[in-house]
Order: sequence, then C-alpha cells, then structure tokens
Amino acid sequence: MKILAIETSCDETAAAVVEDGVRVWSSVVHSQINIFEAYGGVIPEVAARSHIEMILPVIDNALRDFWQNFHADKLQNDWRGQVWSEIDAVACTVMPGLIGSLLVGSLTARTLALAHRKPFYAIHHVEAHAYANFITDMVRYNHPHEVTFDKIRESQPKFPILALLVSGGHSQIVLFRDHGNYELLGQTADDAVGEAFDKVAKILGLPYPGGPSIARAALGGNSRKYDFPKARMARKYDFSFSGVKTAVLRRVQQEVGVDHTFPSGKLSERLSAAQVTDFAASFQRVAVETLVDKLILAYREFAPKSVIIAGGVSANQALRREIRQRFAVEDPSLKIEFPPLYLCTDNAMMIGALAYFKAKRTPADDLLTVEVIPSVSMTKTAWNI
Ligand code: KG4
Ligand code: ZN
Repeated sequence: MKILAIETSCDETAAAVVEDGVRVWSSVVHSQINIFEAYGGVIPEVAARSHIEMILPVIDNALRDFWQNFHADKLQNDWRGQVWSEIDAVACTVMPGLIGSLLVGSLTARTLALAHRKPFYAIHHVEAHAYANFITDMVRYNHPHEVTFDKIRESQPKFPILALLVSGGHSQIVLFRDHGNYELLGQTADDAVGEAFDKVAKILGLPYPGGPSIARAALGGNSRKYDFPKARMARKYDFSFSGVKTAVLRRVQQEVGVDHTFPSGKLSERLSAAQVTDFAASFQRVAVETLVDKLILAYREFAPKSVIIAGGVSANQALRREIRQRFAVEDPSLKIEFPPLYLCTDNAMMIGALAYFKAKRTPADDLLTVEVIPSVSMTKTAWNI
C-alpha cells in the first residue's frame, strides 16, 4: 500500500510517498527556518502563508521523485497523468499544531483524496514522531529493492514500547501497547523541552532554532559550572521546563551584574564566549538528565520490550549519549537505536508510516467532517483500544 503523506503542522512543509509503513519512495521537506531565523521564533500567520506557497510544489516534487524511483527510469512527460494510479491513500497531520498551518495541509490533502477518489487518514503529529523508529532501518540500509519488508519488520521496535517524545511543542512519555493503543504516562506542565532549548538560546544570544545552537555551543563547555534545579512534580512522569529556563535567566543576570529590569534581549552582549558555552552545557545537562531520569523510572515500572525516542529534540547527541550510557547499566541486553537526524525533525515519512498501520486496522476518515485540532492530549487520541 503506497501512501502520499503530508505534514504542515508547524514550520516545515513536507510530503512523502511511503509503502507499507516501511519503504520510503520519496520525501521532500521545505523548512521555513530561513524565514524565522530573523525573528527568533515561528510567527503562525507567516508560517501558514509560506505553507500555502510551498505545499503544491512540495507535493509535486514528492510525487515526481516517487515516480522516478518507482520506475527507476527516465521521467515520462505524462507522469502526472499516471502517478495517481499507483497511490493507494492520502494521509495528513491534522493535530496538534498551529491552526493555520494544519489547515493548509489538511485542506490540500483532503482535496487531493476527493479528486482522485482515495481513502484519507487523519494523523496525530506527536504519535507519528514515534514511527520514525519503524522506518529507520529501511532508510538506513538504503537498499529498497534488496532488503525484504519481513527482514526490516524483525528489527522494528516491539510492543510494549516505551517512547520519549520530545519536540518544540511536546515532552511526553508514552507507553504504546500496540499500534494506536497507547497511554500517556507523563507530559510537561508548561514549556516543552524543545521550547526551553529555544528560549534559553535566546537568552544566551544563540540563533534560532535553539536546540542545535545550544548543542553546538555546549561542546567543550563545563556542564557542571552552573547547577539548575530539577522540578519536582506531583505526578512522577510529568515534566516542567519553565523553572529551569527562569533559573538560567536569573543566573545570567547575576553573572553579568544586572537585575530583572534589565532587557533580557541585551543580556547576551555582556556574556563572554566561555560563559555562553558553560551556560549552554549546564542547561543541556539538566534538561537531558530530567528526561532520562523519568524514562528510566518508567522503564523499571513498565518493563517494555523496546525503548524509543522521537521528535526534534531526539536529534540531541548529549541526550542520545545519556540514554545509551544509562540503559547500558540498566539493561545491557536492551537495543536502543536512534533514527537518523532527518527522521527526528518534522517530515512526512513518519506520517506515511503511521498511516499504513492505521489503514490496516481502521476505516478511512470521513473527508468532509475531519477537523484540525491545534491542541489535544494523547490520552484522548488512541484509536485501537
Ligand atoms: O519535532 P520538531 O521538528 O518540531 C515540532 O514538532 O516541534 O522539533 C523542533 C524542536 C525545536 O524546539 C528545536 O530547537 C529542537 O526540536 N531541536 C533540538 C535539536 N534539534 C532540534 N533540541 C536539542 N538538540 C538538538 N540537536
Ligand atoms: Zn514535530
């Protein structure tokens, strides 16, 4: 089953063709980072307008790449007339995300499904992030014609799966008992961890997006130079990252000798390069330890067969290192594989992968009544229980 998948929930316009939840025939991602670097954050209205400009070229390129890879041949002039005969379904992120951005993808995807008479699958963005782990090996081997799907399936994560889902909008620990059958164990009470990286980067004068900037700045820094408190939560798997962000702000103010009335946008001008490096490393250590402490706690309680990590923040090397090291002590037989970076940040491959498993188990969504939902808890969205 080949699915055209579309993702526009935040600031990436993406489309991909994925077969049977495993084989990626094509993937196109247009990032709006260039636009938002200048502002230090995403402006929802501008993001939606950029999606409108890019959505058709991105889909056209994904279909063209698919057709070319599928036929391993020269592109025929009439490929657009034929390509839809090979597409079995259309899927698109409809929740959660920026409402204007979600609407562009959802309306385009549903229009295509209607026009070409294909079933449509509405996808949850954060749930889909976990599915980067299902296509990792296929993408990594890069031998689509030689490696069988069965061989890949042997190496896929096994249920129950404990997932750490960490992005610019979400920090969650989820237990997947099966496809579509999951339980939210804990989530952030305030800022998502990626959001905290972005905000701390701003305080330190590092460029947007903050995650990769902090990770780069932290290299060679002293991660023990500053200590920031880890939040204590009433529910043991919940997080809070707004406190550590404020603690960084206060410590920076103290370090440069100003009080809270000093404009935070100007603080970084007074920091030395060494201070920036040490602040970045110290913040990253506390953020990473907070995530991994809770993941280990959940591992002990639920004894899952696989542990996976997904979402933009899973690109963070310090987080990967900490997870590897701590789980090596916890359970040396547990295999933890991390998706390549381009599968961690927003893309449509993960949407196409989840859509396949959904399509195998549930009827298609009703094209005319599907709504986009900006904010929704994963407690309510399990579809296979
Ligand atoms: O999943 P994603 O691409 O978009 C959302 O759904 O939010 O995640 C983007 C987030 C941003 O907050 C970005 O700063 C963070 O992921 N991020 C990182 C790294 N790369 C991206 N955070 C920490 N370290 C990284 N290397
Ligand atoms: Zn995301």
